[in-house]
Amino acid sequence: MRVIIHRDAEAATRAVSAFFAEQLAAKPASVLGLATGGTMEGVYAELIELYRAGKMSFAKARSFNLDEYLGLPADHPQTYRHYMDERLFRHVDFPPNATHLPDGTSADPEKAAEDYEALIARYGPIDLQLLGLGANGHIGFNEPSSSLGSRTRIKTLTHATIEANGRFFEDGEWQPHQALTMGIATILDARSVLVLAFGAGKAEAVAQVVEGPISARWPGTALQMHRHATLVLDEAAASDLTMRDYYQWVQANDG
Ligand code: GLP
Repeated sequence: MRVIIHRDAEAATRAVSAFFAEQLAAKPASVLGLATGGTMEGVYAELIELYRAGKMSFAKARSFNLDEYLGLPADHPQTYRHYMDERLFRHVDFPPNATHLPDGTSADPEKAAEDYEALIARYGPIDLQLLGLGANGHIGFNEPSSSLGSRTRIKTLTHATIEANGRFFEDGEWQPHQALTMGIATILDARSVLVLAFGAGKAEAVAQVVEGPISARWPGTALQMHRHATLVLDEAAASDLTMRDYYQWVQANDG
């Protein structure tokens, strides 16, 4: 696993956006795996800037998001579809119908999960998968105890995740406790994976993902089995790593 530590979140965000620009320059018809959450907001703002400056185009690309809440109406501002429309899709040039998320409004969510997995198989593999990290080590909504062999399915959220994401909902508003999420095996099928984590609140999860034993207790540790996984961190998120000097030495020597 490649570990890249930046001074702050802004520098890390610019680095991740540059990876995306390089990917699309090298392969305009890339299949992109996208993520939501607070960590990604800066990345999408940066991608929009690059697009507006004529430095990248999504015109031949396709995207698959990791996950979507179950139980929110389609027009709810906290659906991940809404998040993606507002923070990226409506500002750039993806072709019509080329941006996919699991269907969280389906009357048959199990079938929606199977359909999503089949759609990824049809257009995939995903070339570059962007990932955030939950403070409990989740990737997508693969909460601790998720099967490392899992595929897209319904997942019940932990109390910790519901609480962490409560900041996006109104006070006292009903909040979903289930989601459709790509599985860990689905994520591991991507050709390359880019994980982004900022802040001291992610330090323990980062240390587990990079240096801990592979375990369903910390789902992100499954990325240790991926051949092309890169973690982009700020100083605070890197603060519990015991081999930090080594990662920085590699970073300085291998670029
Ligand atoms: C959310 C999402 C994840 C995200 C993670 C971290 O619940 N399902 O895909 O990466 O938790 O979110 P944040 O970036 O807001 O810390």
